[in-house]
Amino acid sequence: MRAALIRIEAGSAPAAVTVEVPGDKSVTHRAVLLGLLAQGTTHIRRPLRAEDTRRSLAVARAFGARVEESAAEWVIESQGLGALREPGAVIDCGNSGTTMRLAIGMAALVPGLTVLTGDASLCRRPMRRVTDPLGQLGIDAWTRADGGAPVAVRGGSVHGGRVVLPVASAQVKSALLLAALGADGPVTVEEPMATRDHTERMLAAQGITVDRGPRGTTIFPGTPSPLTWTVPGDPSSAAFWWAWAALTGSRVVTEDVLLNPARTGFLRVLRRMGAQVEESVRTNDVEPLGRVAVTGPDRLSGTTVVAAEVPGLVDELPLVAVLMCRAAGRSEVSGAGELRVKESDRIKAMGDGLRAMGADISDRVDGWVVERGGELSGARVDAAGDHRVAMALSVAAAAARGPVLLTGADTVAISYPGFFDAFEAAGAVRVSSVL
Ligand code: S3P
Repeated sequence: MRAALIRIEAGSAPAAVTVEVPGDKSVTHRAVLLGLLAQGTTHIRRPLRAEDTRRSLAVARAFGARVEESAAEWVIESQGLGALREPGAVIDCGNSGTTMRLAIGMAALVPGLTVLTGDASLCRRPMRRVTDPLGQLGIDAWTRADGGAPVAVRGGSVHGGRVVLPVASAQVKSALLLAALGADGPVTVEEPMATRDHTERMLAAQGITVDRGPRGTTIFPGTPSPLTWTVPGDPSSAAFWWAWAALTGSRVVTEDVLLNPARTGFLRVLRRMGAQVEESVRTNDVEPLGRVAVTGPDRLSGTTVVAAEVPGLVDELPLVAVLMCRAAGRSEVSGAGELRVKESDRIKAMGDGLRAMGADISDRVDGWVVERGGELSGARVDAAGDHRVAMALSVAAAAARGPVLLTGADTVAISYPGFFDAFEAAGAVRVSSVL
């Protein structure tokens, strides 16, 4: 693990690198939790081995599954959703919003009481967006007075019905789709904008009837069959490399990356900004995956990202902020107020970091504006306890003049434990520990 305070300097910007990115975080969480709901043995090859996804393993154990971690795979052995056990203790979801929200949905299926908590960041994040719609399906669930965790759920009998979600959130949608598996009738969930659909795809592959219509997704109750999953590479982790290539005029090739169109909005933005992006789907079994090569231009051009695009690149927006600061002309992101309730307030955290590095970036309620991009300089910046902010600021450091001192570098263990070693080994940066 990297020290909390590190010094990052731009590397030699090699002409071309090929990178193997870790397994997808969203798919790993779901493979684990759907393994808990399936009856039998689930095998997960190439899982993301990181702090967040291990929180989902802990949830699977807490609800009664047997979990085995080996070098080759993760194995989940479960009696299925009809036999989930009331947890014996409060479940600690750490920093993982996906673990907590999906687990709240699953707790609806467990007769008895489930209590979930997390670290200080997770306890600040909104949970009523999950507990309120669950209430519409007949489940009692409580948050703290400010809407945060700890959350308590009294599970038992989920009613069928129709729920219209006010927030575009794949985590919330997935929580309801999981609760629907044990309902007394079909459940339809309508979302305001299409969000990532891994849960729908994976449940369908496990034999569940999933009806995807213009007015929502309907799940017909049932127990999913256990499967063997091979987790594709995470496009949200690959994005740090793609952004680095775009900023430095280098070329990065990433193989076996998840290419679900609900996750590749960042590639569309990179193209608009002038990067050359080659995308080729190799296989399409449950999820499309393949190769992506990004080559940076001499100079990036400014761009505008609007609300409709946000779900397709929500986790990559910190990187868009970095690119905007180096692009010629005006850039703007709007409709991204959700960034304020991620692992940190990402609008503020990225704005603060980039301004410290000399960028002329203004924070808006729901995004950022840069009138004209320019140079970035060395500075002392803070990850705000947020893994994606730590990595996005490190990518900015790789394109800056002068060393960047980053506090909170250790937080990358949440989603990409080997990030700094790989980034340094590729020659993108030189990193030294300060504290
Ligand atoms: C995720 C959904 C997104 C994303 C998060 C993972 C998921 O959050 O930001 O990193 O796995 O479903 P929201 O659903 O809250 O937008």
